[in-house]
Amino acid sequence: MIEVENVVKHYYLGKRQVVALNGVSLHFGEHEFIAIIGPSGSGKSTLLHLIGCLDIPTSGLVKILDKRTDKLSDAEQSALRNKFLGFIFQSFNLIPVLTAFENVEYPLLLSGVTRKERKLRVSALLNEVGLEEHAQHRPDNLSGGQRQRVAIARALVTRPKCVLADEPTANLDSVTGTEILDLMKKINVEHGTSFVFSTHDPKISQYASKTYVLKDGVLLS
Ligand SMILES: Nc1ncnc2c1ncn2[C@@H]1O[C@H](COP(=O)(O)OP(=O)(O)OP(=O)(O)O)[C@@H](O)[C@H]1O
Ligand SMILES: [Mg+2]
Repeated sequence: MIEVENVVKHYYLGKRQVVALNGVSLHFGEHEFIAIIGPSGSGKSTLLHLIGCLDIPTSGLVKILDKRTDKLSDAEQSALRNKFLGFIFQSFNLIPVLTAFENVEYPLLLSGVTRKERKLRVSALLNEVGLEEHAQHRPDNLSGGQRQRVAIARALVTRPKCVLADEPTANLDSVTGTEILDLMKKINVEHGTSFVFSTHDPKISQYASKTYVLKDGVLLS
């Protein structure tokens, strides 16, 4: 489903070149729960951005469903992001003026799903993440763990095959972080959605079907 082949990514800070990834290869299919572990600056976010079609490699290939991401037009890239991928971020990235229900509904407004179908899908997902009572609350009135549950429901509402989560538990206490991972794992098992998530925390690898360790832009395992 997703193939990363010998990927190198350079950034430029003025004239200075930063090597964020230096020859990374990995691939995965459906039903996977993959942890990318590594210290700050090791390239985790860069790798997730490349898999998420948010950027393209300096050299090497990223292929999604057998298509090279560097050969896609902007419109094809966004179509792939909207239909095939879901995103969860460390800082939740919810829209503050929208309720939990409206935040989850939002990606569907772009995809022509009818109002009735939207209501069904959003309610079912809020139920699934345990927030049916909080549907009308705005993010300000939710705890960190509840906000991340809204973000998970939002990532799933378009029924993606793969969800990319960049340090989804970094802003949560360890008990809440564990609950969020349990929820992601449950969705992985019940819906077959693949998850790829990054973390600083080596303990989290016990949840993963595969663990990759990144250090200085190189995969150690
Ligand atoms: N847009 C950018 N411009 C220049 N350098 C960048 C940019 N994004 C990342 N880098 C550099 O690339 C390297 C990898 O960064 P990346 O954000 O992928 O690491 P990370 O593992 O996600 O770190 P963290 O755990 O702190 O989020 C770092 O040296 C970083 O400074
Ligand atoms: Mg990062």
